Amino acid sequence: MIATLPEALATAVEAEVAEHDPAAIRTAAAALSEAYRGQSTIACTLSPVERAAYLAVRFPSTFASAAAVWSELANVCDLSHVRTALDVGAGPGTASLAAYSVLPNATFSLFERDSGWRQTAAKLATALEIESTFRVGALPGALTPHDIVVSAYALNELAEPERAKAIAALWPAARVALIVLEPGTPKGFAVCEMARTQALAAGAHAAAPCTHNDRCPMTTDDWCHRPVRVARSAIHRAAKLGSLAHEDEKFSYIVLTRDPPRRTAPARIVRKPIRNTGHVHIDLCNAGGLQRTTVTRRDKANYRGARDAEWGGVWPPDQTGG
Ligand SMILES: C[S@@+](CC[C@H](N)C(=O)[O-])C[C@H]1O[C@@H](n2cnc3c(N)ncnc32)[C@H](O)[C@@H]1O
Repeated sequence: MIATLPEALATAVEAEVAEHDPAAIRTAAAALSEAYRGQSTIACTLSPVERAAYLAVRFPSTFASAAAVWSELANVCDLSHVRTALDVGAGPGTASLAAYSVLPNATFSLFERDSGWRQTAAKLATALEIESTFRVGALPGALTPHDIVVSAYALNELAEPERAKAIAALWPAARVALIVLEPGTPKGFAVCEMARTQALAAGAHAAAPCTHNDRCPMTTDDWCHRPVRVARSAIHRAAKLGSLAHEDEKFSYIVLTRDPPRRTAPARIVRKPIRNTGHVHIDLCNAGGLQRTTVTRRDKANYRGARDAEWGGVWPPDQTGG
């Protein structure tokens, strides 16, 4: 499946990007890519054209990964009573916007250090008819309790020891669940793992992608992440001078809940399944650690599921709707 922005949101993003010269967007997009590859630092306050470039080239991907994580949360947690969510390091409110179908009745509080995002965030929220308020503030600091706390692609931007302090403030503010979403890099995974360790020590349940509360078996040279395929819009292709119709966004995440997850799959698929003639190798993480299972054509009950199995999904596939 290829993720796309909801039409009304795509239109609002196009309108924001159209306010700037395409050449300036291309230059800003190239600078952003360099910064995200770690080759330069990310400014605390983006310029208007940098914000537009973010909307053109990064926003669709962070929206897609956040939407995938919200749907994991909806699988494991009853969200019918959720009314408030706090989006920490919100930028344009991407993670809140991505919850529009999962939490249609919630109010989102956006917490962000860069006040320049305020107007854009308001326009995008209006496009999706979600209720949100924007507050300028910088992590680390005490956070007001909300039903759900989400932080997407923000904590890795903090320097140590601020990052550790910021992570420590997230779980106490989450009444129902905490989501930490980061780039699918060793550093992004380390942030999620730190949030997991701290929250489990305080009584949380690791609800996704983990299928258990035991020690994470991923070591320093391995990291838990998964891809989501994202359509590249015309403005994305223009900003990057690229022609590919889609790209794969790799992300790491952790969903932590106060109550035990309502459904737990036996295992999570942690790498791309290897499909060969007559058999499929699937790499799994479960309470026993990391292990490979091989499903052959003779295993009629599981072979079809194995052929369709996806990196990031659960195994067996019918256990949590994954
Ligand atoms: C890569 S953007 C992600 C924006 C949005 N969450 C998304 O997923 O598209 C990171 C955001 O975190 C914000 N941020 C970074 N450090 C922060 C801090 N110490 N306090 C508050 N916001 C911060 C940045 O200003 C930026 O808007």
